[in-house]
Amino acid sequence: MNKSSFGLIGLGVMGRNLLLNVADHGFKVSGLDLDPKQVSAMQSERLEGHQLEAFTSSDDFITSLASPRTIMLLVPAGAIVDQVIESLIPKLDKGDLIIDGGNSHYLDTERREQFLNSKGLLFLGTGVSGGAQGARKGPSIMPGGDFEAYQRVAPIFEAITAKYEGEPCVSYVGRSGAGNYVKMVHNGIEYAIMQSIAEVYALFRSYGFSNTEVKSAFDRYQKGRLSSFLIEITAAILGTKDPEGKGELVDNILDKAKQKGTGKWTSQNAMDLGIAIPSIDMAVSQRALSALKELRVRLSGNKPNPEKINFNTLVEKAEKALYASFAIAYAQGLQQISEASKVYDYQIDLVSVIKLWRGGCIIQSRMLGDLATSFEKESILHLFESSHFKSALTEAVEGLRELVLSGVKNALPIGTLSSSLSYYDTLHCSDLPVNMVQAQRDFFGSHTYERKDQPGIFHHNWSL
Ligand code: 6PG
Repeated sequence: MNKSSFGLIGLGVMGRNLLLNVADHGFKVSGLDLDPKQVSAMQSERLEGHQLEAFTSSDDFITSLASPRTIMLLVPAGAIVDQVIESLIPKLDKGDLIIDGGNSHYLDTERREQFLNSKGLLFLGTGVSGGAQGARKGPSIMPGGDFEAYQRVAPIFEAITAKYEGEPCVSYVGRSGAGNYVKMVHNGIEYAIMQSIAEVYALFRSYGFSNTEVKSAFDRYQKGRLSSFLIEITAAILGTKDPEGKGELVDNILDKAKQKGTGKWTSQNAMDLGIAIPSIDMAVSQRALSALKELRVRLSGNKPNPEKINFNTLVEKAEKALYASFAIAYAQGLQQISEASKVYDYQIDLVSVIKLWRGGCIIQSRMLGDLATSFEKESILHLFESSHFKSALTEAVEGLRELVLSGVKNALPIGTLSSSLSYYDTLHCSDLPVNMVQAQRDFFGSHTYERKDQPGIFHHNWSL
């Protein structure tokens, strides 16, 4: 009997959708879930012509797969991944390939790769972005690990991903934990962009504009250089009525943002690498601050009454502010990836990463096309050095500055917008006031300092 070329474990919504997507492209596939309800959901969603089998028995599942086997896991990140891997090992043969498609920590991926390689098995830690819809219609895929293992699964991944101008939104990301690392930073950027959008929305609302008016602004943005998945869904959210009949749903959603941890990991690792990603850090902190709802309610007082502003003027300023915030979030994440690639020897090609983010993933945007061109055509270390972004940002940052000023004046929480502005201003400042910090360090701790006018290490006997 003809065996399956692709197996998937974990038939939750993501897993089912991804498996249906693979089946859509003519591959014979098998799915496994220990929960019979998920298996029958899978059976009921299969389409005419699909070569798809779903099992609750792992033995039947393994037998259904062609050798060498390719098995993807879409199970919750953490201990479950290890448990599933442990349970598979005795049933597999040398040369079989396991792909983890969850949001696993890159260090877990490195550990699992070494462990599985020691058993003669191959492993790919693979970021998958795009949510449930992306999994069904075309995600963006970030595979890392053994290059030959990638080549084995590349025809399937290339078939099922989103396409950007005909190019599949997948490519080999790099060695070892590189795939999950890149997905982690993707999520960090996602946090910063989402929070910037939320802060711009708050500014519009503070000036008294209705959700419908704000939606019209985002609809306009979607037609221009800000065109992106996150702008598009924001416009849709603003236009969604509350099913309970109380105005727009967004107004009735509790303002406590949850997180699964990838944004926090991005910040933690940036601190370890000594890379500054303040917009991402602040977006993570804003979620933590949002959790303090009761304290915030107790402390909240009267806010200044914002002055009147012309709607179209605000739409224009906010467009610039969002353009700058998007670019700054990408700049921070990309710098972190470049540094990590050197430090961990991941051998990541930044241009390929940018290209595979152009479609399918949560942070896909029109701007990524310009980003790819900038990094491909110019030999730059940081996005701010690109000739295109240098001039685009000079103009856009002024909108960001004006929005931050209004936010500050009106006591609005605009931490991510202002962190982005401050990051930009800091990197455009040839002299920083940390000469004072160095003097203070030397004063109380004899930590020494360098001088501007001569080489060497100095210490001064400071006194009060
Ligand atoms: C994606 C998303 C996806 C998930 C986030 C949510 O790329 O498809 O990033 O992976 O929705 O991890 O993260 P939080 O729960 O931390 O917001």
